[in-house]
This record gives sequence, C-alpha cells and structure tokens, in this order.
Amino acid sequence: MGFMTIDGQRVEFTNEPNVLTVIRNAEIDIPTLCYHSELSIYGACRLCTVEDDRGKTFASCAEPPRDGMVIYTNTPRLMRYRRTILELLLAAHDRDCTTCVKSGECHLLELAHRMGVDRIRFKNREAKYPIDESSPAIVRNPNKCILCGDCVRMCDNVQSVNAIDFAYRGTSTLVTPAFNKTIAQTNCVNCGQCRVVCPTGAISIKTNIDEVWDALADPNTIVVAQVAPAVRVA
Ligand code: FES
Repeated sequence: MGFMTIDGQRVEFTNEPNVLTVIRNAEIDIPTLCYHSELSIYGACRLCTVEDDRGKTFASCAEPPRDGMVIYTNTPRLMRYRRTILELLLAAHDRDCTTCVKSGECHLLELAHRMGVDRIRFKNREAKYPIDESSPAIVRNPNKCILCGDCVRMCDNVQSVNAIDFAYRGTSTLVTPAFNKTIAQTNCVNCGQCRVVCPTGAISIKTNIDEVWDALADPNTIVVAQVAPAVRVA
C-alpha cells in the first residue's frame, strides 16, 4: 500500500498496475484512446499524459504508481497537449464522419468534443487506402485508423489469431494483414473482437446481415468462432 497526491488530493493505492488506474479509482476523469485493462500496455496515444511536481510529463497508463508521487492531471499545459494530439489524429483521419458507420459512437470524435477541439490547424491526410471488404463479416478502412494498436493486441495477444499487424514505417505505417493480403486471405476467424476495441470506424462489422449469412454458408468461408471471451472495454 502507498499514497500519492493527485491534483492536491491524497490518494491511497495498493496493487493498481499503473498510475492511470489510481487516477480513475479516485474518480478523476482522464481521456484515453489506446488503454484497455485487458490488453497489454502500448502507450501510443499519449492522451493519458500527466505531469509531476518537477514538471516531468509521462503517460500514466505506462507508469507504475510509487509512494509519494505528486501528479497533476489537468494543467493548462496538459490540456493543450491533449487538444494538439487530437487535432493531429483527426488530421490523419478520413473525416467523412456524417456517413461513418461509427457515427454517434466514435471515441475519437467524442474526445475531440469533450476536449474542446473546435478547429484543426493541420492539413488533412488524403484518404488513399482501399477499403477491405473481402471478409464475410468485417470491413477494414485504413483511412480511419489512428494506429492505437488495440486491434493488433486483441487479434495477436488475446485471440492468438495474428491476422493483422503493423507494417511499413513513419507516415506510411499501417495496420494490415501481411504481404498486402486482404482479410479474407488471412486466418481471420471473424470473431469481431478487433471491432470491439477499435475506437474509430477503421474496423466495422458488415451491416447487411443477408450478405453475411450467404458468405458464412459458403464452404470456402473460414469458420466463425469466438475464440476468447469478449473483453470489457475500460
Ligand atoms: Fe496512455 Fe494511450 S492511454 S498512452
């Protein structure tokens, strides 16, 4: 057991795996895009960044709690960082939000509204990747991917399917099946768990149920199976 000070409030912790969990246990709101308690820590989005009493910033999801820590979660500097991160993510994202299948439940958009992002100062990236509709159940739109890696960790570490992963580098980085294959050409089992954790419309489930059933009736379609329990999204 230990104590830390969060925004001036003394908070006790015991076995919490990271500072983020201690903050949330204290009922302090802090935004996250890439953290799920059932997935490994990736620290990609940096939205959960906090500041300590020396002005050092760090991702709270990737930091173990230590006795005597003094941290701040909502300073003007942190709010500025978060808004800039969201602006950058939105600029790299295909923003056809009104017709997006995730419209109304997009976590990225919800955070942008919550953080007061009312303009985007950066040039929008062109939507240049083809949409992969080859799977009987899943649609993959790389133009909406924010590279949080949640689907990769779900598919690889939890489901042990390994149908998708990161490929290429820098601004060309993509989450994709290997060797430019389509989803239908991988061993994807259509469990849909990647969609459960995807915060945007980058992965969605086909909505035309007749089409899904026709495809599943096809003996060439890989069998649908839920190989692990659905995760609870934290
Ligand atoms: Fe901590 Fe994304 S939630 S870096």
